[in-house]
Amino acid sequence: MSTMQAVIYEQYGPPEVLKMSQVAKPTPKPNEVLIKIYATTVTVGDWHLRKADPFLARFFTGLFKPKNPILGHELAGVIEAVGANVTKYNIGDAVFASTKLDSGTYAEYMCLPEEGAMALKPNNLSFEEAATIPVGGLTALHLLRQAGIKAGQKVLVYGASGSVGSFAVQLAKYFGTNVTAVCSTTNVELVKSLGADAVIDYKQTEVTQSNEQFDLIFDAVGYLPLAQCKKILKPNGAYASVSWGLILTLNMLGSKIFRGPKVVIGMSKEGTADMVFLKGLAEAGKLKGIIDRRYTLAQLPEAHHYVESGRKKGGVVIQIA
Ligand SMILES: NC(=O)c1ccc[n+]([C@@H]2O[C@H](COP(=O)([O-])OP(=O)(O)OC[C@H]3O[C@@H](n4cnc5c(N)ncnc54)[C@H](OP(=O)(O)O)[C@@H]3O)[C@@H](O)[C@H]2O)c1
Repeated sequence: MSTMQAVIYEQYGPPEVLKMSQVAKPTPKPNEVLIKIYATTVTVGDWHLRKADPFLARFFTGLFKPKNPILGHELAGVIEAVGANVTKYNIGDAVFASTKLDSGTYAEYMCLPEEGAMALKPNNLSFEEAATIPVGGLTALHLLRQAGIKAGQKVLVYGASGSVGSFAVQLAKYFGTNVTAVCSTTNVELVKSLGADAVIDYKQTEVTQSNEQFDLIFDAVGYLPLAQCKKILKPNGAYASVSWGLILTLNMLGSKIFRGPKVVIGMSKEGTADMVFLKGLAEAGKLKGIIDRRYTLAQLPEAHHYVESGRKKGGVVIQIA
């Protein structure tokens, strides 16, 4: 049996549950491609899964121990083999992809369906840059579209220096809106470089007390509840959040029943077409991935500690090949 290096977790817990291991190298099913992974990232979702936080996640990921021992949700790499029915890709193609609800990119190889959230890698980006795009880029794109983003609108992005936030700023600019980005003092210059028209440093200014009103408020980190946005959100505006939970679900239902700002939550369902869209934007110079730090597979526990601190900017890359 041929094997590969991977980082696995066999129990829920702190970053130290992540261990280097030798596991079976996967082989592609007829509709799948086998990707040699050059770079992956540590997403916020990865550490939540590692800790089984919230506890309810265990009903999907395994009650007592993880059903899938390999974490990691986005990658860039090169196709090494193709299944018998694959028509879109060839051996040697460089691709970038999100694994969506599955995981498995903390490894040298992974198989993905050719119809998944995958596209050819933008030819102007390195593997590391490309690997930072899929999860944050697809999430920002989905929520902005669901919120009905339109040219000419005034958009506020809260948490603009994170992965989802940095793509939300760039995509909102691409859609022709006027973007106000909110971040802490250390990230003001970074966020300006993404094209924000105005930046509010939340350490200096209480954004919810601004006299401005926005057509769309995008909470990209889950720290700006709708209830605090009453003064700054237009009555017919839209509020989008990366968060989940009872209050937001009630907000969403309430907005449908009693006419008020539109409330948008939920995971992206996008696939190939949206990855191709993001590739096009990257190649046109309208979307870039931000790399905060780089680690190796063996340093994954350290990378998890950093991402769990909640202070990463853009993406934290794991170099594999
Ligand atoms: N719905 C979905 O499908 C989906 C998909 C992907 C991610 N998510 C969720 O989206 C959230 C963001 O993920 P991410 O990867 O973009 O996060 P991230 O990169 O870890 O965000 C870190 C950024 O958040 C900012 N931040 C931290 N505390 C803050 C606060 N109190 N107020 C404002 N900003 C704060 C920090 O910037 P400053 O230092 O400048 O504050 C930091 O740059 C996570 O909860 C994740 O689970 C949801």
